[in-house]
Amino acid sequence: MIVLFLQIFTCFLFTTTTSSPHGFTIDLIHRRSNAYSSQVSDTQLGSPYANTVFDSSMYLMKLQVGTPPYEIEAVLDTGSELIWTQCLPCLHCYDQTAPIFDPSKSSTFKEKRCDTHDHSCPYEIVYNDKSYTKGTLATETVTIHSTSGEPFVMAETIIGCGRNNSVFSPSFSGIVGLNWGSLSLITQMGGAYPGLISYCFAGKGTSKINFGANAIVAGDGVVSTTMFVTTAKPGFYYLNLDAVSVGDTRIETLGTPFHALKGNIVIDSGSTYTYLPGSFCNLVREAVEYVVPAVRAADPMDNDMLCYYSDTIDIFPVITMHFSGGADLVLDKYNMYFELNRGGVFCLAIICNNPPQEAIFGNRAQNNFLVGYDSSSLLVSFSPTDCSALWN
Ligand SMILES: *[C@@H]1O[C@H](CO)[C@@H](O)[C@H](O)[C@H]1NC(C)=O
Repeated sequence: MIVLFLQIFTCFLFTTTTSSPHGFTIDLIHRRSNAYSSQVSDTQLGSPYANTVFDSSMYLMKLQVGTPPYEIEAVLDTGSELIWTQCLPCLHCYDQTAPIFDPSKSSTFKEKRCDTHDHSCPYEIVYNDKSYTKGTLATETVTIHSTSGEPFVMAETIIGCGRNNSVFSPSFSGIVGLNWGSLSLITQMGGAYPGLISYCFAGKGTSKINFGANAIVAGDGVVSTTMFVTTAKPGFYYLNLDAVSVGDTRIETLGTPFHALKGNIVIDSGSTYTYLPGSFCNLVREAVEYVVPAVRAADPMDNDMLCYYSDTIDIFPVITMHFSGGADLVLDKYNMYFELNRGGVFCLAIICNNPPQEAIFGNRAQNNFLVGYDSSSLLVSFSPTDCSALWN
Protein backbone atom coordinates (compact mmCIF):
# COMPACT_ATOMS: atom_id res chain seq x y z
CA MET A 1 0.00 0.00 0.00
CA ILE A 2 1.27 3.45 -0.73
CA VAL A 3 1.57 5.76 2.26
CA LEU A 4 0.25 9.30 1.88
CA PHE A 5 0.99 10.55 5.36
CA LEU A 6 3.17 9.10 8.06
CA GLN A 7 4.00 10.16 11.56
CA ILE A 8 5.83 7.79 13.87
CA PHE A 9 7.16 8.96 17.18
CA THR A 10 10.43 7.08 17.05
CA CYS A 11 12.52 8.39 19.93
CA PHE A 12 14.95 5.92 21.51
CA LEU A 13 14.11 3.32 18.91
CA PHE A 14 17.07 3.03 16.65
CA THR A 15 19.96 2.39 18.97
CA THR A 16 20.19 -1.31 18.12
CA THR A 17 18.82 -1.58 14.60
CA THR A 18 20.67 -1.09 11.36
CA SER A 19 18.18 0.10 8.87
CA SER A 20 19.64 0.62 5.47
CA PRO A 21 20.08 -2.06 2.84
CA HIS A 22 23.40 -0.41 2.08
CA GLY A 23 24.65 -1.79 5.37
CA PHE A 24 24.93 -5.34 4.06
CA THR A 25 28.43 -6.43 3.31
CA ILE A 26 30.25 -7.05 0.09
CA ASP A 27 31.29 -10.37 1.57
CA LEU A 28 27.72 -11.50 1.47
CA ILE A 29 27.23 -10.60 -2.17
CA HIS A 30 30.40 -12.49 -2.94
CA ARG A 31 29.28 -15.57 -1.09
CA ARG A 32 25.87 -15.49 -2.65
CA SER A 33 27.01 -15.27 -6.23
CA ASN A 34 29.68 -17.92 -5.82
CA ALA A 35 28.15 -20.36 -3.45
CA TYR A 36 24.41 -20.37 -3.54
CA SER A 37 24.01 -23.92 -2.28
CA SER A 38 26.74 -23.74 0.33
CA GLN A 39 25.19 -20.60 1.72
CA VAL A 40 21.90 -22.45 2.10
CA SER A 41 23.56 -25.27 4.00
CA ASP A 42 25.77 -23.06 6.15
CA THR A 43 22.76 -21.17 7.34
CA GLN A 44 21.97 -23.61 10.09
CA LEU A 45 19.26 -21.39 11.45
CA GLY A 46 16.92 -22.39 8.62
CA SER A 47 14.99 -19.92 6.50
CA PRO A 48 11.98 -18.12 7.90
CA TYR A 49 8.73 -18.38 5.96
CA ALA A 50 5.04 -17.68 6.43
CA ASN A 51 1.91 -19.00 4.81
CA THR A 52 -0.12 -16.61 2.70
CA VAL A 53 -3.75 -16.56 1.60
CA PHE A 54 -5.52 -14.62 -1.10
CA ASP A 55 -8.39 -12.33 -0.19
CA SER A 56 -10.09 -11.04 -3.36
CA SER A 57 -7.59 -8.22 -3.89
CA MET A 58 -4.87 -8.57 -1.25
CA TYR A 59 -2.41 -11.25 -0.19
CA LEU A 60 -2.46 -11.91 3.52
CA MET A 61 0.42 -13.25 5.55
CA LYS A 62 -0.13 -15.40 8.63
CA LEU A 63 1.98 -14.56 11.65
CA GLN A 64 1.72 -14.97 15.38
CA VAL A 65 1.97 -12.16 17.89
CA GLY A 66 2.33 -12.40 21.63
CA THR A 67 2.84 -15.05 24.27
CA PRO A 68 1.05 -17.41 24.04
CA PRO A 69 1.17 -16.94 20.23
CA TYR A 70 -1.96 -15.46 18.72
CA GLU A 71 -2.37 -15.93 14.96
CA ILE A 72 -3.30 -12.96 12.80
CA GLU A 73 -3.66 -12.50 9.03
CA ALA A 74 -2.34 -9.19 7.77
CA VAL A 75 -1.67 -7.66 4.35
CA LEU A 76 1.73 -8.62 2.92
CA ASP A 77 2.94 -5.18 1.92
CA THR A 78 6.27 -4.36 0.27
CA GLY A 79 5.01 -0.76 -0.12
CA SER A 80 5.04 0.22 3.55
CA GLU A 81 7.11 -0.12 6.68
CA LEU A 82 5.21 -0.66 9.91
CA ILE A 83 3.84 -3.98 11.15
CA TRP A 84 0.54 -3.19 12.85
CA THR A 85 -2.57 -4.98 14.02
CA GLN A 86 -5.83 -3.83 15.53
CA CYS A 87 -5.57 -3.89 19.33
CA LEU A 88 -8.03 -3.99 22.19
CA PRO A 89 -9.29 -1.80 23.71
CA CYS A 90 -10.26 0.01 20.50
CA LEU A 91 -11.17 3.66 20.22
CA HIS A 92 -12.50 2.93 16.78
CA CYS A 93 -11.71 -0.36 15.04
CA TYR A 94 -13.11 -1.48 11.71
CA ASP A 95 -15.17 -4.68 11.60
CA GLN A 96 -12.78 -7.58 11.64
CA THR A 97 -13.91 -11.18 11.12
CA ALA A 98 -11.27 -12.70 13.43
CA PRO A 99 -11.20 -11.61 17.08
CA ILE A 100 -9.04 -8.55 17.70
CA PHE A 101 -5.64 -9.01 19.40
CA ASP A 102 -5.83 -8.39 23.13
CA PRO A 103 -2.42 -7.28 24.47
CA SER A 104 -3.54 -7.79 28.07
CA LYS A 105 -3.52 -11.54 27.39
CA SER A 106 0.11 -11.52 26.21
CA SER A 107 2.97 -11.73 28.71
CA THR A 108 5.50 -10.26 26.25
CA PHE A 109 3.59 -7.14 25.16
CA LYS A 110 5.23 -3.89 26.24
CA GLU A 111 4.24 -0.36 25.23
CA LYS A 112 7.24 1.64 23.98
CA ARG A 113 8.13 4.66 26.07
CA CYS A 114 8.81 8.01 24.46
CA ASP A 115 9.24 11.51 25.87
CA THR A 116 5.68 12.56 25.15
CA HIS A 117 3.47 13.86 27.95
CA ASP A 118 2.02 10.38 28.63
CA HIS A 119 5.25 8.57 27.58
CA SER A 120 3.45 6.75 24.73
CA CYS A 121 4.95 6.51 21.22
CA PRO A 122 2.07 7.44 18.92
CA TYR A 123 1.98 6.71 15.21
CA GLU A 124 -0.41 7.64 12.43
CA ILE A 125 -0.40 6.32 8.86
CA VAL A 126 -2.74 7.36 6.07
CA TYR A 127 -2.61 5.16 2.94
CA ASN A 128 -3.36 6.44 -0.56
CA ASP A 129 -6.89 5.02 -0.57
CA LYS A 130 -7.55 7.21 2.53
CA SER A 131 -7.62 4.25 4.89
CA TYR A 132 -5.72 4.98 8.09
CA THR A 133 -4.37 3.51 11.29
CA LYS A 134 -3.57 5.37 14.52
CA GLY A 135 -2.19 3.89 17.69
CA THR A 136 0.96 3.44 19.72
CA LEU A 137 4.17 1.50 19.23
CA ALA A 138 4.88 -1.51 21.38
CA THR A 139 7.41 -4.31 21.52
CA GLU A 140 6.06 -7.80 21.19
CA THR A 141 7.18 -11.28 20.22
CA VAL A 142 6.43 -12.10 16.58
CA THR A 143 6.65 -15.71 15.42
CA ILE A 144 6.63 -17.25 11.94
CA HIS A 145 7.77 -20.63 10.59
CA SER A 146 11.24 -21.78 9.69
CA THR A 147 12.51 -24.48 7.35
CA SER A 148 14.47 -25.85 10.33
CA GLY A 149 11.17 -27.01 11.79
CA GLU A 150 11.62 -24.77 14.83
CA PRO A 151 9.47 -21.62 15.01
CA PHE A 152 11.27 -18.43 13.94
CA VAL A 153 10.86 -16.20 16.98
CA MET A 154 11.50 -12.47 16.86
CA ALA A 155 11.52 -11.21 20.44
CA GLU A 156 10.91 -7.51 21.12
CA THR A 157 9.76 -6.70 17.61
CA ILE A 158 8.43 -3.17 17.31
CA ILE A 159 4.82 -3.27 16.17
CA GLY A 160 2.00 -0.77 15.95
CA CYS A 161 -1.00 -1.39 18.15
CA GLY A 162 -3.80 0.20 16.11
CA ARG A 163 -6.69 1.53 18.18
CA ASN A 164 -8.32 3.86 15.63
CA ASN A 165 -8.32 2.27 12.18
CA SER A 166 -10.53 2.79 9.14
CA VAL A 167 -11.54 1.46 6.59
CA PHE A 168 -10.01 -1.94 5.82
CA SER A 169 -11.41 -5.28 4.74
CA PRO A 170 -12.90 -7.42 7.56
CA SER A 171 -10.77 -10.32 6.37
CA PHE A 172 -7.53 -8.92 7.74
CA SER A 173 -6.29 -7.65 11.09
CA GLY A 174 -3.57 -5.27 9.99
CA ILE A 175 -0.60 -4.84 7.68
CA VAL A 176 2.88 -6.36 7.60
CA GLY A 177 5.29 -3.74 6.26
CA LEU A 178 8.12 -5.27 4.23
CA ASN A 179 9.87 -2.26 2.75
CA TRP A 180 13.50 -1.45 3.59
CA GLY A 181 12.71 0.96 6.45
CA SER A 182 13.94 0.33 10.01
CA LEU A 183 10.63 -0.92 11.41
CA SER A 184 9.71 -3.36 8.64
CA LEU A 185 9.57 -7.09 9.29
CA ILE A 186 12.49 -7.80 6.99
CA THR A 187 14.73 -5.20 8.66
CA GLN A 188 13.80 -6.33 12.16
CA MET A 189 14.73 -9.92 11.27
CA GLY A 190 18.32 -8.72 11.56
CA GLY A 191 21.62 -9.30 9.85
CA ALA A 192 21.31 -13.04 9.31
CA TYR A 193 18.41 -12.49 6.91
CA PRO A 194 19.61 -9.55 4.87
CA GLY A 195 16.84 -8.18 2.77
CA LEU A 196 15.85 -11.34 0.94
CA ILE A 197 12.16 -11.85 0.23
CA SER A 198 10.34 -14.06 -2.25
CA TYR A 199 6.67 -14.70 -2.82
CA CYS A 200 4.50 -16.32 -5.45
CA PHE A 201 0.96 -15.04 -5.82
CA ALA A 202 -1.81 -17.20 -7.24
CA GLY A 203 -5.33 -16.03 -7.95
CA LYS A 204 -6.65 -18.46 -5.37
CA GLY A 205 -5.64 -20.65 -2.45
CA THR A 206 -2.60 -20.60 -0.23
CA SER A 207 1.06 -19.92 -0.88
CA LYS A 208 4.21 -18.86 0.99
CA ILE A 209 6.48 -15.91 1.53
CA ASN A 210 10.12 -16.88 2.09
CA PHE A 211 12.96 -14.98 3.74
CA GLY A 212 16.71 -15.49 3.88
CA ALA A 213 18.56 -18.13 1.85
CA ASN A 214 15.34 -19.81 0.77
CA ALA A 215 14.15 -16.58 -0.84
CA ILE A 216 16.82 -16.52 -3.55
CA VAL A 217 15.21 -16.68 -7.00
CA ALA A 218 17.62 -18.16 -9.52
CA GLY A 219 17.74 -20.65 -12.37
CA ASP A 220 16.35 -21.10 -15.89
CA GLY A 221 13.89 -18.53 -17.12
CA VAL A 222 14.66 -16.02 -14.37
CA VAL A 223 14.96 -12.38 -15.41
CA SER A 224 16.29 -9.69 -13.11
CA THR A 225 16.11 -5.93 -12.99
CA THR A 226 17.81 -3.34 -10.81
CA MET A 227 16.06 -2.25 -7.65
CA PHE A 228 16.50 1.38 -6.65
CA VAL A 229 16.21 2.50 -3.08
CA THR A 230 16.47 6.23 -2.60
CA THR A 231 16.48 8.30 0.53
CA ALA A 232 14.42 10.92 -1.30
CA LYS A 233 11.49 8.48 -1.41
CA PRO A 234 12.31 6.32 1.57
CA GLY A 235 11.12 2.78 1.80
CA PHE A 236 9.88 2.10 -1.71
CA TYR A 237 11.41 -0.56 -3.90
CA TYR A 238 11.64 1.21 -7.26
CA LEU A 239 12.13 -0.52 -10.60
CA ASN A 240 12.81 1.08 -13.94
CA LEU A 241 10.18 0.44 -16.61
CA ASP A 242 11.64 0.98 -20.10
CA ALA A 243 8.52 0.22 -22.12
CA VAL A 244 5.17 -1.55 -22.27
CA SER A 245 4.19 -3.65 -25.28
CA VAL A 246 0.57 -4.15 -26.27
CA GLY A 247 0.71 -7.09 -28.66
CA ASP A 248 3.56 -6.09 -31.00
CA THR A 249 3.26 -2.36 -30.34
CA ARG A 250 6.05 -1.23 -28.06
CA ILE A 251 5.53 2.02 -26.16
CA GLU A 252 8.74 3.49 -24.76
CA THR A 253 8.86 5.51 -21.57
CA LEU A 254 11.82 7.36 -23.14
CA GLY A 255 10.57 10.69 -24.41
CA THR A 256 7.67 10.78 -21.95
CA PRO A 257 7.62 12.46 -18.52
CA PHE A 258 7.55 8.92 -17.12
CA HIS A 259 11.11 8.26 -18.26
CA ALA A 260 13.72 7.94 -15.51
CA LEU A 261 17.10 6.35 -15.09
CA LYS A 262 16.91 5.50 -11.42
CA GLY A 263 13.53 3.95 -10.93
CA ASN A 264 10.15 5.14 -12.16
CA ILE A 265 7.72 2.56 -10.74
CA VAL A 266 7.22 1.11 -7.26
CA ILE A 267 6.82 -2.66 -6.97
CA ASP A 268 4.10 -3.05 -4.36
CA SER A 269 2.56 -6.31 -3.16
CA GLY A 270 -0.06 -4.31 -1.26
CA SER A 271 -1.65 -2.62 -4.31
CA THR A 272 -4.00 -4.65 -6.46
CA TYR A 273 -3.82 -2.79 -9.75
CA THR A 274 -1.00 -1.32 -11.76
CA TYR A 275 -0.87 2.47 -11.95
CA LEU A 276 0.83 4.33 -14.80
CA PRO A 277 1.16 8.09 -15.17
CA GLY A 278 -1.37 9.92 -17.33
CA SER A 279 0.16 10.66 -20.70
CA PHE A 280 2.12 7.41 -20.95
CA CYS A 281 -0.85 5.43 -19.66
CA ASN A 282 -3.07 6.92 -22.34
CA LEU A 283 -0.71 5.64 -25.03
CA VAL A 284 -1.00 2.13 -23.57
CA ARG A 285 -4.78 2.38 -23.43
CA GLU A 286 -4.99 3.66 -26.99
CA ALA A 287 -2.96 0.67 -28.16
CA VAL A 288 -5.41 -1.66 -26.38
CA GLU A 289 -8.41 0.21 -27.80
CA TYR A 290 -6.91 -0.02 -31.27
CA VAL A 291 -7.01 -3.83 -31.33
CA VAL A 292 -9.95 -4.83 -29.12
CA PRO A 293 -12.97 -5.64 -31.33
CA ALA A 294 -15.65 -4.99 -28.72
CA VAL A 295 -18.01 -2.31 -27.44
CA ARG A 296 -16.84 -0.13 -24.55
CA ALA A 297 -18.64 -0.56 -21.23
CA ALA A 298 -18.89 1.98 -18.42
CA ASP A 299 -16.31 1.74 -15.69
CA PRO A 300 -18.06 0.25 -12.67
CA MET A 301 -15.71 1.64 -10.07
CA ASP A 302 -15.47 5.19 -11.25
CA ASN A 303 -11.75 4.82 -11.68
CA ASP A 304 -11.85 5.76 -15.33
CA MET A 305 -10.93 2.19 -16.23
CA LEU A 306 -11.00 0.80 -19.75
CA CYS A 307 -13.82 -1.78 -19.89
CA TYR A 308 -15.50 -3.77 -22.66
CA TYR A 309 -18.51 -6.00 -23.09
CA SER A 310 -17.12 -9.45 -23.75
CA ASP A 311 -17.80 -13.05 -22.82
CA THR A 312 -14.18 -13.99 -23.18
CA ILE A 313 -10.75 -12.74 -22.21
CA ASP A 314 -9.35 -14.12 -25.49
CA ILE A 315 -10.04 -10.96 -27.50
CA PHE A 316 -7.59 -8.88 -25.48
CA PRO A 317 -3.95 -8.32 -26.51
CA VAL A 318 -1.01 -9.71 -24.55
CA ILE A 319 0.82 -7.06 -22.52
CA THR A 320 4.56 -7.21 -21.88
CA MET A 321 6.31 -5.10 -19.26
CA HIS A 322 9.91 -4.34 -20.23
CA PHE A 323 11.95 -3.59 -17.13
CA SER A 324 15.49 -2.33 -17.58
CA GLY A 325 18.27 -4.81 -18.04
CA GLY A 326 16.22 -6.97 -20.41
CA ALA A 327 13.72 -8.15 -17.81
CA ASP A 328 10.74 -8.63 -20.13
CA LEU A 329 7.66 -9.94 -18.34
CA VAL A 330 5.17 -11.38 -20.80
CA LEU A 331 2.03 -11.16 -18.72
CA ASP A 332 -0.80 -13.63 -18.79
CA LYS A 333 -4.12 -12.11 -19.79
CA TYR A 334 -5.37 -12.82 -16.26
CA ASN A 335 -2.66 -10.46 -14.95
CA MET A 336 -3.85 -7.54 -17.04
CA TYR A 337 -7.62 -7.99 -17.49
CA PHE A 338 -10.28 -8.83 -14.94
CA GLU A 339 -13.91 -9.77 -15.29
CA LEU A 340 -16.52 -7.91 -13.28
CA ASN A 341 -18.52 -9.92 -10.78
CA ARG A 342 -21.72 -9.69 -12.73
CA GLY A 343 -19.91 -11.14 -15.79
CA GLY A 344 -19.87 -10.11 -19.42
CA VAL A 345 -17.57 -7.11 -18.85
CA PHE A 346 -13.76 -7.16 -18.77
CA CYS A 347 -11.57 -4.24 -17.72
CA LEU A 348 -7.89 -3.46 -18.15
CA ALA A 349 -6.19 -3.78 -14.74
CA ILE A 350 -4.19 -0.59 -15.28
CA ILE A 351 -5.29 2.70 -13.77
CA CYS A 352 -4.05 5.98 -15.21
CA ASN A 353 -3.00 8.47 -12.57
CA ASN A 354 -1.28 11.79 -12.43
CA PRO A 355 1.89 12.77 -10.63
CA PRO A 356 2.69 13.17 -7.78
CA GLN A 357 0.91 9.82 -7.43
CA GLU A 358 3.44 7.03 -7.73
CA ALA A 359 3.45 4.61 -10.63
CA ILE A 360 2.84 1.17 -9.12
CA PHE A 361 3.44 -2.39 -10.32
CA GLY A 362 0.65 -4.10 -8.40
CA ASN A 363 0.00 -7.63 -7.16
CA ARG A 364 -2.41 -8.72 -9.89
CA ALA A 365 0.27 -8.10 -12.54
CA GLN A 366 2.74 -10.13 -10.44
CA ASN A 367 0.49 -13.22 -10.36
CA ASN A 368 2.21 -16.46 -11.32
CA PHE A 369 5.72 -15.12 -11.05
CA LEU A 370 8.02 -16.18 -8.26
CA VAL A 371 9.23 -12.69 -7.29
CA GLY A 372 12.50 -12.27 -5.37
CA TYR A 373 13.80 -9.07 -3.75
CA ASP A 374 17.50 -9.01 -2.94
CA SER A 375 18.55 -5.86 -1.13
CA SER A 376 22.26 -6.72 -1.14
CA SER A 377 22.63 -7.21 -4.90
CA LEU A 378 19.86 -4.62 -5.45
CA LEU A 379 17.97 -6.87 -7.85
CA VAL A 380 14.37 -7.94 -8.18
CA SER A 381 14.02 -11.26 -10.01
CA PHE A 382 11.02 -12.84 -11.68
CA SER A 383 10.53 -16.48 -12.56
CA PRO A 384 7.36 -17.48 -14.45
CA THR A 385 5.77 -20.06 -12.14
CA ASP A 386 2.44 -21.78 -11.57
CA CYS A 387 2.13 -20.38 -8.04
CA SER A 388 -0.92 -22.46 -7.11
CA ALA A 389 1.11 -25.62 -7.74
CA LEU A 390 4.43 -24.49 -6.28
CA TRP A 391 4.12 -25.49 -2.64
CA ASN A 392 1.01 -27.67 -2.79
C1 LIG B 1 -9.99 8.46 14.73
O1 LIG B 1 -9.18 9.15 13.80
C2 LIG B 1 -9.93 9.99 12.94
C3 LIG B 1 -9.00 10.47 11.82
O2 LIG B 1 -7.87 11.13 12.30
C4 LIG B 1 -10.53 11.10 13.77
O3 LIG B 1 -11.27 11.96 12.94
C5 LIG B 1 -11.45 10.48 14.82
O4 LIG B 1 -11.94 11.48 15.67
C6 LIG B 1 -10.70 9.44 15.64
N1 LIG B 1 -11.66 8.71 16.49
C7 LIG B 1 -11.47 8.50 17.78
C8 LIG B 1 -12.55 7.76 18.48
O5 LIG B 1 -10.48 8.91 18.38
